[in-house]
Amino acid sequence: MAGFRETLHDANDLFLNRWSPRSFDGKPLPGADLLTILDAGRWAPSAFNLQPWRFIYATPQDVEVWKSFLDTLVPFNRSWAQNAGALVAIVSETWIESPDKPCHTHSFDAGAAAMAIALQAQMLGYSAHAMAGFDASKVRAYLQVPEHFKPEVMIAIGSQASGERLPDNLKAREFPSDRKPLEMVSSPHKFVH
Ligand SMILES: Cc1cc2nc3c(=O)[nH]c(=O)nc-3n(C[C@H](O)[C@H](O)[C@H](O)COP(=O)(O)O)c2cc1C
Repeated sequence: MAGFRETLHDANDLFLNRWSPRSFDGKPLPGADLLTILDAGRWAPSAFNLQPWRFIYATPQDVEVWKSFLDTLVPFNRSWAQNAGALVAIVSETWIESPDKPCHTHSFDAGAAAMAIALQAQMLGYSAHAMAGFDASKVRAYLQVPEHFKPEVMIAIGSQASGERLPDNLKAREFPSDRKPLEMVSSPHKFVH
């Protein structure tokens, strides 16, 4: 559905062209590209420059680890993410140096890193699809995440393939979604209902 997304205010094509497909070609992401994508995540801004994120990754070439990464996903996400070229778990540190100093922005900061990762993936010709549908206790156990880190999101990254490869229920959803109009989500001076 090319051209489905429109901007009346000239947001850059980079933002309009990024979307989250579910059809991937199953080829492992080359290691150098994956590191470039994660490096972009590293350059995200964070409160006090704390950089509370950690990126834990696997590709299908890591056969046993790949299986455990896939097993963290809810069955719906596993059904399509198994064809991704890499999976990245973002976890974030919930305190600053000690438990009595909570970090109030760790999830917000991790979200900024996730967007940087998605846009760098896109600039290299890949697609990224974030998932909240995963079992956090499995992420903790399989990926050996310490208790004071929160599993935030799993991200499938890979080369997009034709939507025709998908089962019918997913095929019908395989297009870039629209957004609320700018006037609905932004207003001068005060909140508008
Ligand atoms: C934090 C987060 C969690 C998400 N979880 C899932 C998920 O579990 N499964 C899924 O298929 N898509 C998931 N998505 C993808 C969103 O549905 C998608 O980003 C949204 O519909 C906007 O579409 P677009 O990314 O194609 O522009 C998630 C996205 C975000 C940012």
